[in-house]
Amino acid sequence: MKDFVSMKNLSEHELLQLIKTADEIKEHGIEPFREQLFAANLFFEPSTRTKMSFIVAQRKLGIEVLDFASDFSSVQKGESIYDTARTLESLGASLLVVRHPQDNIVKELSDQISIPVINAGDGKGEHPTQCLLDLLTIYQEYKRFKGIKVAIVGDIKHSRVARSNAYALTTLGAEVYLSSMKEWQDPSLPFPYISMDEAMEQCDVVMLLRIQHERHDSRSVIMDTQYLQDYGLTKERERKMLKHAIIMHPAPVNRGVEIDNDLVECGRSRIFKQMSNGVAARMAVMSKLLGKEGLNHANNFNQRDAVSSR
Ligand code: CP
Repeated sequence: MKDFVSMKNLSEHELLQLIKTADEIKEHGIEPFREQLFAANLFFEPSTRTKMSFIVAQRKLGIEVLDFASDFSSVQKGESIYDTARTLESLGASLLVVRHPQDNIVKELSDQISIPVINAGDGKGEHPTQCLLDLLTIYQEYKRFKGIKVAIVGDIKHSRVARSNAYALTTLGAEVYLSSMKEWQDPSLPFPYISMDEAMEQCDVVMLLRIQHERHDSRSVIMDTQYLQDYGLTKERERKMLKHAIIMHPAPVNRGVEIDNDLVECGRSRIFKQMSNGVAARMAVMSKLLGKEGLNHANNFNQRDAVSSR
């Protein structure tokens, strides 16, 4: 694997290896790289979690972070993303992490650049490292994916998180359901739609999505308070969830819109655990792409795991 831009073409085995490596890293850490490596994080859209957790993950792996800020870069003089990436590659970067508002641009870039490229979110396309941390969170909870029922709820049409998770969870054998108001349904995702009330009664994981206002053509078609009542996770709905079921959300959360404020940190919420898992998930991906001695610990784990499952 040279790049990490989509969950669509990863096999069940590849996904499980990444999840288990991330789980192992979270539990026991990993040896940092001994050689000097540089990573450049090219963010052309705002981010708190993804950008900061990549920086924490890079520092834990002993990778030096090149300080790139698009507003203060030559992008402001008209330099293309390709020339920006080629420049950083020429300066000695070993890895690029890219977030961009345009669908599919990270895949196109990865085909033109020799060093590994990680998709940190491309428009309405995919968000594979968010997906990996979501998978890790579900794995920590249930230790399996087969037969786990996951409802992905909200602004499906504009969500890269929904797309990556729907693909990967299906590969892993989970049952994926979507729940959304009609305007935000996405016919390109071939999964059954259920109501929020059905999701409460049937699903092991309720994965809420942020309303992606910045990707809408016009201002929201529904008032925030009305959205919570009609489509969001209210306290009344939460009481109908299966006893063991968990709540997830990639964040940032629109409190009181997608979810009642009091539920964001309730007993079933894994929202801040997801964020914490983001560091290990991103360490696992960068270790795999950069390989070499940094993977020793995780490789040992995978060998042990393979032996114990024979
Ligand atoms: N979940 C997520 O991608 O958050 P940020 O936009 O803050 O990175």
